Amino acid sequence: MGRVTTSTADLWHHYGRARAASDRAVPATFYWNWGQDAGPGAEVLSDLTGRCVGDLGAGAARHAAHLAVQHQPARVIAVDASPAQYAIATDLYGYLAPRLRIVHCDVVSHLSAMRGTYDVLYSVFGAVDFADPRELLPAAAAALRPGGRLVFATLAHYLSGSHAQPDVVAAEVSTKTPDGEAATMRRWVLQEHVWTKLLDDAGFTRITIDVLPATAEGPRTADTLLVRANRPS
Ligand SMILES: C[S@@+](CC[C@H](N)C(=O)[O-])C[C@H]1O[C@@H](n2cnc3c(N)ncnc32)[C@H](O)[C@@H]1O
Repeated sequence: MGRVTTSTADLWHHYGRARAASDRAVPATFYWNWGQDAGPGAEVLSDLTGRCVGDLGAGAARHAAHLAVQHQPARVIAVDASPAQYAIATDLYGYLAPRLRIVHCDVVSHLSAMRGTYDVLYSVFGAVDFADPRELLPAAAAALRPGGRLVFATLAHYLSGSHAQPDVVAAEVSTKTPDGEAATMRRWVLQEHVWTKLLDDAGFTRITIDVLPATAEGPRTADTLLVRANRPS
C-alpha cells in the first residue's frame, strides 16, 4: 500500500470518471438501491411538478438530470463539494440549465444559506453518508419549507459485510488521491435506530426506513436503507 495521505486533495477525483467518458445520456431511470438497478424510484419523492429540489452530494448529477428532464420541477439544484465531480456534472449536463443548476459547495454551507427554500431534498449515497449528520440533518431541516421532505439512500451495513454502527460514529474508509496515493475519508454507516434518533433530534417527523435488499451477491454488494422524513408543516 502507498503512503496514506491526509491532505485536502479531491478524494472524489476518480469517482465516475470512466463512465463519464462514454455515457453522456440523461438516465431513463432513477433508483435508490446500491446496485442502481431495482426497487422504488423517483415516485418516492412525490410529485415534483413546480417544486424546488436539492441533490445533496450529486456527483455527476445523473439523478438530478433525470429529475430535471422527466419530472417538471421548478428547478433541481445539484450540490457537490468535489471540484472533479462539479466539473464532470457541468460537462455532462450543464446544458440543462436553468432547470438543472449545478453548484460547487459543501452541502452544510449550502443548506445554511438556503433556509426555507426547498420542497424536497435527497441524497443517493451522497453527502448524507460523508458529512457529519449532526451538522447536515439540522441544516437540511432548516433549508426545507414547512412540510418539505428529505429522502436518502445510505448503506445498511459496511461493504465488507460488517454491521452498521450502533452509535453516531464514522469509519475511515479507503480511497485514493488524484495521484493514486492511498487515503481515507469518513463515512457514516449507521443502524436504523441511530438515523431515526438523529432525524428526530434535527426536528424531522414521519420518519420511515425501508431496507432494499442487495440485488447481487459477492463482495462490495450491499443492502440499502431508504430513509424518508418530513419537516413538520
Ligand atoms: C458516492 S458519491 C455519490 C454521488 C451521486 N449521488 C451518485 O449517486 O452517483 C458521493 C458524493 O458526495 C459528495 N460529497 C461528500 N461529502 C460532501 C459534502 N460535505 N458536501 C457536498 N458534497 C459532498 C462527494 O463529492 C461525492 O461526489
